[in-house]
Amino acid sequence: MSGDGAHGGRITSVLSETRTFPPAHDHHARVGSMDAYRAMYDRAERDPDGYWSEAATELWWARGWDKVVEWNPDAPSWDATWFVGGKTNAAVNCVDRHLAGWRRNKAAILFEGEPGDTRILTYAELHREVCKAANALTALGVTAGDFVAIYMPMIPEAVIAMLACARLGAPHTVVFGGFASEALADRIRDSKAKVVITADGGWRRGHAIALKDNVDHAVPGSTVQHVVVVKRTAQSVAWHTGRDHWWHDVVDSASAKHTAQAFDAEHPLFSLYTSGTTGKPKGILHTTAGYLVNAMQSSRLVFDLREEDIFWCTADIGWVTGHSYVTYGPLANGATVLLYEGAPNHPEPDRFWQMIERWRVTTFYTAPTAIRAFMRWGDELPAKHDLSSLRLLGSVGEPINPEAWMWYREKIGGNRCPIVDTWWQTETGSIVISPLPGATPTKPGSATLPLPGMIVDVVKRDGSRCADNEGGFLVIKRPWPSMLRTIWGDHERFEKAYFSEIPGTYFAGDGARRDSDGYIWVMGRVDDVINVAGHRLSTMEIESALVSHPSVAEAAVVGRPDDLKGQAIVAFVTPKRGITADDALAKVLRQHVVEQIGALARPEELRFAEALPKTRSGKIMRRLLREVASGSKARGDTTTLEDQSVLETLAQSFAEE
Ligand code: WT7
Repeated sequence: MSGDGAHGGRITSVLSETRTFPPAHDHHARVGSMDAYRAMYDRAERDPDGYWSEAATELWWARGWDKVVEWNPDAPSWDATWFVGGKTNAAVNCVDRHLAGWRRNKAAILFEGEPGDTRILTYAELHREVCKAANALTALGVTAGDFVAIYMPMIPEAVIAMLACARLGAPHTVVFGGFASEALADRIRDSKAKVVITADGGWRRGHAIALKDNVDHAVPGSTVQHVVVVKRTAQSVAWHTGRDHWWHDVVDSASAKHTAQAFDAEHPLFSLYTSGTTGKPKGILHTTAGYLVNAMQSSRLVFDLREEDIFWCTADIGWVTGHSYVTYGPLANGATVLLYEGAPNHPEPDRFWQMIERWRVTTFYTAPTAIRAFMRWGDELPAKHDLSSLRLLGSVGEPINPEAWMWYREKIGGNRCPIVDTWWQTETGSIVISPLPGATPTKPGSATLPLPGMIVDVVKRDGSRCADNEGGFLVIKRPWPSMLRTIWGDHERFEKAYFSEIPGTYFAGDGARRDSDGYIWVMGRVDDVINVAGHRLSTMEIESALVSHPSVAEAAVVGRPDDLKGQAIVAFVTPKRGITADDALAKVLRQHVVEQIGALARPEELRFAEALPKTRSGKIMRRLLREVASGSKARGDTTTLEDQSVLETLAQSFAEE
């Protein structure tokens, strides 16, 4: 499969041209040299229990654990449980714990709305709001174990809602505000949520986007008993008396006193739906203590968090990045986070640079697709602003092409700030592969080396190790505290998706190679998951949306490389007999996908085909369609191009099984 010499040879030649950037020489860095990193890594590998229990000691515990981890390497899935017997509360760790000392009056959240309104919440104020919200939810009947769906814009109440749920032991399931009512309904149905917390809407490019309206379509006939609505835009909303409650009615009047209960270390903290290879999104389940230990520790290591930092992760709380690096990780460390509601290009495309200047942001964490958009909008935009407060830049969500990496370093980081390219997944809960800013020399396009405690490898289908620079599958070889525990309601799918592909390992679904320095180069997905503008989508999910339209007989969806979005969605559709395939129908079908899933899934291109190419056993030949969709292979960036061909080979080997 991946081992043919032609690819290997060409990749090596590209690699040899790669520049290496030294780490920041910083006396304050937590891990200040490669030797320090290696010592830490080796120690964690030799004594994982000792390493993780040291990390866990930083949290507040109502009861200590009896055993660090229990797992079965020979079972169909590892089924690891962490900090066995321990009892804690995630919200207490993120909020209450900071009230005893000076952090009480430190800003926890700096908020800027798209219209320009601002709000600052200190830890003491955040505590008061979380307690009130917890009391309000209790009054609505929420108790430990009940799922609460959160469908919100990026406003302080979104974070408050997450923490209020955590405080009550009521797992939240945050649904990205860009998902349509159908997708929201699916997630409500699967999690059996009892309450939905939403807003009338949010501001996006100057418009009041409706959210409550989608909730009204999603909720009837479901398990939802109450809907709590934050008034954000003051747009008019339909009202179901008895079911619907304004946040300002139920929360503002609630008591600010709330005694938090401690929950078992393995008590579910949240589920978050993400796309897999089938049409049905997976409810990735994370539990309390392990998740928090990793989120907290990785925030500190990777972002080298300091008390005086202004930490800005631009991810929406609807994605795991927003869970781990907007809410849980930074707040568990007592950091100050910046929260922004709207679009990066409103009212002008320099909004982010303006905000960095205004808030004196020190750490900026965003996605390659955004960086490529900024590049396109022009160098003069960041140049107009004072970005000297920045000391560290981060990238996440998809492979970052070296060209974008270099631009980020020069134009945003002023050749001064290290870049941490962080590889991880909804499933991993926290960062797995990343440079440490004071220690790791970086190479544009590589996520570099695993964090201490993370045993990562690049292997062939049979599990044997790939040679240097040979393309293979990215795997993790030992459980880590923030790994997913199950797919909600489908443990069998959990076993199959992550543990049956390559024996004895956690299979990430990504293709990668390891260079002669041991650096990991992640190439992209090898399954039918595509990454469009940093959003993870399943081709089958989009196909199901298409065939749910009465005019469609059959559909196949593939990703095609896209200079801006990483991948673009191309749909091939066979209409039913007697249906005219024309531009009008193409438009209707693209809109149908938007209504079923959300604007993020709208096919960039929709082609009609009389029949889809199939194997004799009836399988759609995706490789062929990918080639057709890509058209000519000649593209700008050579490294990406090389990766693409290796990835095709890997994906093929994956599909053949
Ligand atoms: C997939 C996970 C976890 C953060 C947001 C995405 C891709 C993520 C990188 C990176 C190359 C990356 C992988 C992964 N990915 N970070 N630094 N370099 N690829 O979470 O939606 O669960 O998607 O995103 O393909 O499997 P997600």
